[in-house]
Amino acid sequence: TAQLHQLAVNAGLEYFGIAVGESAVQQDTTYRNLVNDKREFGQLVPENGQKWDSTEPNRGQFNYRNADIVPNVAKQNGQLLRCHALVWHSQLPGWVNSGSWNRQTLQSVMEVHINNVMGHFKGACYHWDVINEAINDDGTWRPSPFYNTFGTDFFALSFRLAKAADPDTKLYYNDYNLEYNQAKTDKAVELVRIVQAAGAPIDGVGFQGHLIVGSTPSRSALATTLRRFTSLGVEVAYTEIDIRHPSVPSSASARVTQANDYANVVGSCLDVAGCVGITIWGFTDKYSWVPGTFPGTGEALIYDSNFNKKPAWTSISSLL
Ligand code: XIL
Repeated sequence: TAQLHQLAVNAGLEYFGIAVGESAVQQDTTYRNLVNDKREFGQLVPENGQKWDSTEPNRGQFNYRNADIVPNVAKQNGQLLRCHALVWHSQLPGWVNSGSWNRQTLQSVMEVHINNVMGHFKGACYHWDVINEAINDDGTWRPSPFYNTFGTDFFALSFRLAKAADPDTKLYYNDYNLEYNQAKTDKAVELVRIVQAAGAPIDGVGFQGHLIVGSTPSRSALATTLRRFTSLGVEVAYTEIDIRHPSVPSSASARVTQANDYANVVGSCLDVAGCVGITIWGFTDKYSWVPGTFPGTGEALIYDSNFNKKPAWTSISSLL
């Protein structure tokens, strides 16, 4: 029977993969067995374990217990690993968030963090999300300890530190709502140009793809948006796709709309040279961050909560 990663590779993509929850993969055997199927999911990314609050909860004290869970699964199975995320305003420990920094002290904190975390995973990460979500939805720069201290200089700084820590992984800027090709997308283009103008290394832009059933842009509109970035000389990938129903439980017809939306997203990647892969933010509705974060919405993934394939799975597999 058809399996998504294999189909994706045959269609010219580098991988089709998923985010994996650290507790689900340890506690749920059915979940774990599906994660282990590398023909279905050829790439994994840890849902939370590599984030700053998990890896360096106190200054200079690094802990990789949680961070290692998913990378070890990927290694065992021979799956590609996306690594996520180094410089981000969210899931930051309090000591970074509320520290009073100047350029010198924060640069040294960033350098120690990036060197330690990237050093720990050196050789294992196919991609690293170096900067995550630096832009507000209205197209302004997002406040964070990094922006507040360096302004836009933290972009090139982060990529330079990352390149020095692990020269052999692809370095990504990653964000959500870039799919709509509005002010936020314009600002992400500006971010890439700023990094490039500074002579710093950036390899790719991740489109998270946290989308809504019935409001997902068309395949051709999505492809046009992706090409704004590939024309700058960086690759692109969908890194965190989920397409949530605005209200749940969903109807059968809404699940068909969802299937079309998934096909449009995957299709747009096939249409763009330089779109390298697809990652879904989980695979089963049993475990998804969506209902907790967007109350009243959900059923955003491609397997239902009983691990049955949904119409979205079928539409992706027939497209690939
Ligand atoms: C989410 C996780 O799925 C949740 O478990 C966690 O509580 C919050 O973060 N953008 C990102 C991801 O880059 O890291 C986020 O993951 C979802 C939004």
